[in-house]
Amino acid sequence: MTSSVSRSRGVFPVVALSAFIDAIRDSGYRSPAHALAELVDNSLEAKAHSINITIQDDPQTGVGQVRVIDDGCGMPPSTLQLALQFGGSTRFNERTGTGRYGMGLPCSALSQARRVDVYSWQSPSQTWWTYLDARTIASGSCVQIPAPKRAPVPLPAHSPSGTVVVLSDCDRFDRSPLVAGDITNNLGRIFRRVLIGGASVSVNGEPIGPVDPLFTAAHHKIVQGTPYGPTLEFRIRAPLGTTSTVRVRFAELPVRTLHVLSNAEKAGAGITKGAGVSVVRAGREIDYGWYFMGSKRKENYDDWWRCEVEFEPVLDELFGLTHTKQRVNPTRELAAVLVPHVEPIARVLNRRVREAFQQVRSPQHDSNASRRAQSRDNQLEPPHTTRRSRNGSAAEPDNAGITGLQYRTLRSSMGESELFNAELVGRVLTMTVNTDHAFYEQLLAPLMRQRVVRTSEAMAPLELLLLAYCRAETSLRHKADKRIAHHLRKQWAEALNAYVG
Ligand SMILES: Nc1ncnc2c1ncn2[C@@H]1O[C@H](COP(=O)(O)OP(=O)(O)OP(=O)(O)O)[C@@H](O)[C@H]1O
Ligand SMILES: [Mg+2]
Repeated sequence: MTSSVSRSRGVFPVVALSAFIDAIRDSGYRSPAHALAELVDNSLEAKAHSINITIQDDPQTGVGQVRVIDDGCGMPPSTLQLALQFGGSTRFNERTGTGRYGMGLPCSALSQARRVDVYSWQSPSQTWWTYLDARTIASGSCVQIPAPKRAPVPLPAHSPSGTVVVLSDCDRFDRSPLVAGDITNNLGRIFRRVLIGGASVSVNGEPIGPVDPLFTAAHHKIVQGTPYGPTLEFRIRAPLGTTSTVRVRFAELPVRTLHVLSNAEKAGAGITKGAGVSVVRAGREIDYGWYFMGSKRKENYDDWWRCEVEFEPVLDELFGLTHTKQRVNPTRELAAVLVPHVEPIARVLNRRVREAFQQVRSPQHDSNASRRAQSRDNQLEPPHTTRRSRNGSAAEPDNAGITGLQYRTLRSSMGESELFNAELVGRVLTMTVNTDHAFYEQLLAPLMRQRVVRTSEAMAPLELLLLAYCRAETSLRHKADKRIAHHLRKQWAEALNAYVG
C-alpha cells in the first residue's frame, strides 16, 4: 500500500518493501542447517560458549518453532534493532570474523519462518525484545523495525548475558528426522573447528560433534584419514592491499581397510559422495565442492581422498563470497594460483586410490581365513574338477591332493540376492562375499562400532564357515548337482536376508 501511494506521488523508494520481503525469503540457503549456521555464526561472534538449538512444534499453533539460545555478550536495545535490519550490522565490511554484511540474521530467519523474535540481555534483569513479521511487512503495515521493549526471556533459566532468536510460523523449515540428522551433520562439519576447540552446540539437547571431511581429527571412529604431503601455503595479495595466506591440505582415506564396507556403511561413514574441497573461511566452512581441479573430472575414486582450502576474509573478493556464506565463486586470478598445484595432486591421489583398489581386488589379496583354509586343505579329498583355468591350461586335480587348493577371499558389492559365491578355477578356489547382503552389514557394522578395524581377523570365523561350504559346493561332480547347490545357496541367502534385513 505504501509503495503505491509513493509511486502515485512520483516517489520510488529504493526498496519496494512488500515485494522485497517475499523475494528475500527466497535467498536460497542450501538447507535448514545452512540457514541456522548464520545464527550460530552470530552467537559465536558474541563469544558464546554454549549454543542450544531447539526444534519443536509451537505449543499454541502446532506449527514448527526453532530457537537458537546463546550465552554470548547479548545486545543493548540499539544493537537489537540494528540486528533485525537488512544491512544492519555492528561489523559492516569488517574482515576479522565471519560476519560482514548485516544480512545473516534477518535473511536466514525469514528464509525458514514467517516471523522472527529476538530477545537479548546484557544483565539478567534487563531483557529487550523486538521482532520482524514477514506478513505485516508484506501488507505494508510494518515499515520499521519495532522499537525494542522490555520482556521476559522465554526460558525458565538463562545465563548472565545472551540472546534467544525464535523462528516461528516456520513454513519452510523441514523437520523430518532425516533433515534433523542432516542438520547435525552439516553443522558439525561447518563448525568443526570451533567444536574441536571446545564450543558447545546442541540440537534439542543432543551435543553436535565435529565432522571432519578429511577424517584427520582424532574423534572419527571408523574412518581415519592420513594427511597427504605437507600443507601448501600461498601468499596472496588481497584486493584491500594486504597479503594473506591460503592454506591447502590433502588427506587420503584408508582403501585397504574400508573397501570392505557395504555401500550403506560407506554412505553412513561419510565416504561416498564426499569427493571435493572443503572451503574454510575464518575457521568456518563456507562451501564444499569441486573447486580448483582444472580439467580433472570428478570420479567415484575421488571419494577416497579429500582437500581443504582455508582463507581469511580479506580474500573474500578473490573467493567470490556470497552474503549467504554458503558458496564461493573463485576468480580466475585465484584459480591461476591454485589450480596448477591442486590439479596435479588431485590426479596423483586419484591414481593412488585406483591402485589401492586394484591391489585389494587382486586375487593375491589373501585373508587370514583363506590362508588358514589353504594350509589345511591337503587333509581333504581333492575335488574332482574338469574346469579349465582362466588362461586356458588344463586344470591339475592330481597335484591338488599333495599341495591342496589355493584359497582367495574377495569382498564385493553384488546386489542383495546372494551372500557369497564360489568359483573353482584350476586349483584356485575363490569365494566372493557380498558386502550388500543384510547379514554382512549386520555382522560388520557392530564390529566397526567396536573399532575392530582389522576386519579380516574379525571376519575369519565367518569366512572359514563359508569357505567350507564353498569347498563342498565346488567339489560337486555333476552339473545338475551344481545347479541345485547354486539354487539352494540363493534360497538360503534370500531367507537369511529376510530374517536379518
Ligand atoms: N546472537 C547475537 N548476539 C549478539 N549480537 C548479535 C547476535 N546476533 C546478531 N547480533 C548483532 O546483530 C548484527 C546483525 O547480525 P547479522 O547476522 O544480520 O549481520 P552480521 O553478522 O553483522 O553480518 P552477516 O550478514 O555477514 O552475518 C550483528 O552485527 C551483531 O551486532
Ligand atoms: Mg551474522
